[in-house]
Amino acid sequence: MKKIIIIDGGPRKNQNTAQLLQRLAEGAKSASADVEVKTFRLYDLEYRGCMSCMACKLKGKASNICRFNDSLTPILEEIARADGLVLGSPIYFGEVTGQMRAFLERLVFPWLSYNDYSLTAPKRMPVVLVETMNGTPERNNSNGFGSMDYCLTSALGEPQRIVAYNTCQVAHYDSYELGGFSEEAKRAWRDAHWEEDLQKAFEAGRQMAGQ
Ligand SMILES: Cc1cc2nc3c(=O)[nH]c(=O)nc-3n(C[C@H](O)[C@H](O)[C@H](O)COP(=O)(O)O)c2cc1C
Repeated sequence: MKKIIIIDGGPRKNQNTAQLLQRLAEGAKSASADVEVKTFRLYDLEYRGCMSCMACKLKGKASNICRFNDSLTPILEEIARADGLVLGSPIYFGEVTGQMRAFLERLVFPWLSYNDYSLTAPKRMPVVLVETMNGTPERNNSNGFGSMDYCLTSALGEPQRIVAYNTCQVAHYDSYELGGFSEEAKRAWRDAHWEEDLQKAFEAGRQMAGQ
């Protein structure tokens, strides 16, 4: 049985990022009955970023899975054995959310060798990175997964990237101080692109499960 792990790094349970990840999970399940898809929502968990305990670098006991014990521990262990990894985040101030960044510190630091600066995960696997944002393809401030993109690519393999631009942040723009956005323009963008974004996510899931 193949196992795909989805990490949802956004706080909203049923908005843009979560919907894309949900559709990706549906795509994976549609490919085969022999696939288990598990979604973890980082905002539901109590955990820290890297504590710099250096336990993963101890001579004779070095580990490429984080040794700091909290609610992320079983998830990091599952990822080490998984057959596919999906990371999704809204873009906040040009980056993935703080929760996603803290998670990535815990995932990636144990992969990094301070002997030769190589990056070695317990296992290479297909990866999909999902970003959602207000920005458009022409005008955005997203640095995406930033320096973590290189680490993930190096240790796991070249990711497939899905970016949903110009998402609707609220259902009724009139009820908020959001004068910089036109609800009409947002809706027009959504009508033109959202189904396609969802379809890309579905296909990415189907492909990952088939790999
Ligand atoms: C705190 C915060 C910061 C944000 N910063 C950016 C940003 O820098 N660039 C951008 O394009 N969108 C930004 N956004 C918009 C979100 O990325 C966008 O609405 C996203 O699709 C929300 O995902 P969700 O619907 O899954 O919560 C920000 C939203 C919040 C709440």
